[in-house]
Amino acid sequence: MASERDVRARLQRAGQEHLLRFWAELAPGQRSALLAELAPLEPEALREHCRRAAAACARPHGPPPGLAARLRPLPRERVGSGSRCDPETRRRWEEEGFRQIALNKVAVLLLAGGQGTRLGVTYPKGMYRVGLPSQKTLYQLQAERIRRVEQLASERHGTSCTVPWYIMTSEFTLGPTAAFFKEHNFFHLDPANVVMFEQRMLPAVTFDGRAILERKDKVAMAPDGNGGLYCALADHQILEDMEHRGVEFVHVYCVDNILVRLADPVFIGFCVLQGADCGAKVVEKAYPEEPVGVVCQVDGVPQVVEYSEISPETAGLRAPDGGLLYCTANICNHFFTRGFLQRVTREFEPLLELHVAVKKVPYVDEEGNLVKPLKPNGIKMEKFVFDALRFAENFVAFEVLREEEFSPLKNADSADRDNPSTARRALLAQHYQWALQAGARFLGARGTQLPELPCLPQNGDPPAICEISPLVSYSGEGLEVHLQGQVFPSPLILDEDQARVLRPQES
Ligand code: UD1
Repeated sequence: MASERDVRARLQRAGQEHLLRFWAELAPGQRSALLAELAPLEPEALREHCRRAAAACARPHGPPPGLAARLRPLPRERVGSGSRCDPETRRRWEEEGFRQIALNKVAVLLLAGGQGTRLGVTYPKGMYRVGLPSQKTLYQLQAERIRRVEQLASERHGTSCTVPWYIMTSEFTLGPTAAFFKEHNFFHLDPANVVMFEQRMLPAVTFDGRAILERKDKVAMAPDGNGGLYCALADHQILEDMEHRGVEFVHVYCVDNILVRLADPVFIGFCVLQGADCGAKVVEKAYPEEPVGVVCQVDGVPQVVEYSEISPETAGLRAPDGGLLYCTANICNHFFTRGFLQRVTREFEPLLELHVAVKKVPYVDEEGNLVKPLKPNGIKMEKFVFDALRFAENFVAFEVLREEEFSPLKNADSADRDNPSTARRALLAQHYQWALQAGARFLGARGTQLPELPCLPQNGDPPAICEISPLVSYSGEGLEVHLQGQVFPSPLILDEDQARVLRPQES
């Protein structure tokens, strides 16, 4: 292990020697922990990181000046539609997606290194239960969708296939995520096909460019953003692992969308048949301030402009038809070819922008007291996964319906939107619709049959509770055999083997 002298000399070169200012007071265990944390920080990289953070902070915040004039909506020919295409075209895309899955060429990659600050839980978001009758967590729903899509592809093509699950974690999420998967027996996936790897961390920095101590023996570090993916892929030889398995196409997605369709054959098939090296699923943006990035063009090049970096005026611009001009909302579901990921990790990663987030970072003051600041005092620097889009040779966007594919869990229930209740309702509303379409009918509280509603109440609970295991149906298929012509009391859980009616005392 590096000695105190070495580390001190390196910190001096980086202009960050203050990180050792409590050295004399530390117990031996604390000293080795601090050295272990500091030793990997390269002096030049640390100096540059702190310099860039301070410089970025000195610039005026908000949208980059002149950005609005450089923006244009995506040209229509770059946007495919999963909802407005004819059924035959959709079937062709889906068929191609299943073919690639059956050939073991498709992997999914979960971005799960975030801290989930807005939701306010201390554990990884994927472990969250939104209160479904089955009590399933986000991770379990995702694992079961992988198993189902593998099964569907295998059945269609008479083979047995695997969709490997790569999970990018961070120092905050790796331990608990790995333990959770073990505890749940990897949700019956083969552990050899679940590959967890860790993204890098970066020090949080004061406005004048000094790394922050959060304790006398600990530097305040934060994950380097979901665009840390590209360094992490290289650090852990993940692309080599993919190559070894024959993976050519990767569906990258974020953890918190309860409706996410993992390895969605329609999206994969569309991107493959378009010859795309990079794709993004989008939904129609709901309202101008919605916290979603917009997929658009900057200087003629497809890009995502994040919600934190677009001005309210630009976000509110209207198209001639009255809808939002920048209406294609990024849902953090990306398609990448392995070749594209290789080019980004090898050539373009150093060109990715560092985005500045100004945050309240707890710290120890000169006297060694722990301070919880009331105002933002520090800068965290993050890369964004979608910043690689501009290096694509053939980028495509793919539009899907929000009610079918997007309900993110961002906030606690105290917020109006994107909270556990909205996520739970979105899933249950979808399953209720699927059940009706498959010919099921439900009984209300007084035992009378509920009317069939063509449209569900917005943001309200569906008239009956029906939860369908992803192991039974991935996107509404195959339900008739369980449900057609039957009348069920609510709640109904349709699990792996058969329709199971949950009696009130069980629920
Ligand atoms: C993200 C998108 C935004 C999109 C929205 C849709 C980015 C940068 N922004 O915003 O354009 O409209 O989702 O819901 O993609 N993560 C890491 N490591 C990190 C930070 C985050 O793996 O260091 C992961 C999170 O665990 C999560 C995903 O990245 O799965 C998205 O991160 P989050 O901070 O929730 O992004 P949003 O601000 O919601």
